[in-house]
Amino acid sequence: MEKELEGLSGEIEAAVTAAKTREELETARVKYLGKKGALTAFFDKLGSLPKEEKPKAGALLNSLRKRSEALLAEKNEMLSTTGNSTTVDTTLPGRSINTGRYHPLTIISNESKEIFKSLNFQVIEGPEIESDFYNFEALNFPPHHPARDMQNSFHLGGNMLLRTHTSPVQVRTMEKQKPPLRMITIGKCYRSDASDQTHTPMFHQIEGLMVDEDINFGDLKGILKIFFSRLFEREVNIRFNPSYFPFTEPSVEVSFSCHVCGGTGCSVCKKTGWIEIGGAGMVDPNVFKSIGYDSEKWTGFAFGWGIERMAMIKYGINDIRLFPENDLRFLGQFE
Ligand code: PHE
Repeated sequence: MEKELEGLSGEIEAAVTAAKTREELETARVKYLGKKGALTAFFDKLGSLPKEEKPKAGALLNSLRKRSEALLAEKNEMLSTTGNSTTVDTTLPGRSINTGRYHPLTIISNESKEIFKSLNFQVIEGPEIESDFYNFEALNFPPHHPARDMQNSFHLGGNMLLRTHTSPVQVRTMEKQKPPLRMITIGKCYRSDASDQTHTPMFHQIEGLMVDEDINFGDLKGILKIFFSRLFEREVNIRFNPSYFPFTEPSVEVSFSCHVCGGTGCSVCKKTGWIEIGGAGMVDPNVFKSIGYDSEKWTGFAFGWGIERMAMIKYGINDIRLFPENDLRFLGQFE
């Protein structure tokens, strides 16, 4: 019996190894371990063996059954993880890996910083929670000036508020540094506006300031021409229209010639050839006085506008609310 069992053991092992599908494996199991299987038949024979042989034969049978069951289970596991076939289909398309991307506002901010850094501007940061002094008073907004209402502030009490623009960083920088200076800052601003296609209560601005002797509108125009030409990767022209801000005098609304049509008129610039971007002007002498610069000696320009607006123009986005939503289908489109 011992010899026969050895033969059977080899047979079972070969059958399990040869099985390529779970069906074939099941056939092998039935053949050896099923009710009428070859191994089961030996158990039936056990009864007719002489008494003294029974224990040894029983032990042998039991160990063979255990080993066979283990082999079957192991093979079954292997077949279920690789499907019914152990070969790999190399023609199947691979699974793509989702990689992270920069948010479009981060892309525009980084590009803007790089351009201004190459023009020797420092990049400065300032607080989002501001005092009335930095957000308004030092910027020549008198206490009851109507321009304060236009900014729809989120007041925090105790003369503090969420900054409504990045201009307070101009004041903070001039307080700390002596002229000449060139700086930009980029950061979050807050206004209690209802959300719509062009407004969100939180948005980002870029602010620039250059102070030196004999700075004039020509310097401002020149710097902005370089900036927008690099940002939109096409030579653009700059146009100033009269405007008003308490902290600049004279103040202007800045436009650049359309980066799509080059100024001849298209749907992007609404056939005007120009795209309006934001405010700028020559620093009002009252601002210099509030921080102690000699307004007879120093002149400067300042500008400021939305990062969202730049991104919308550059990427052709028509709803500002897409930026804070962070839908991956939207975010995945920018590099
Ligand atoms: N701070 C102004 C605003 O938010 C923009 C501006 C900045 C205008 C600098 C002139 C100079 O509306």
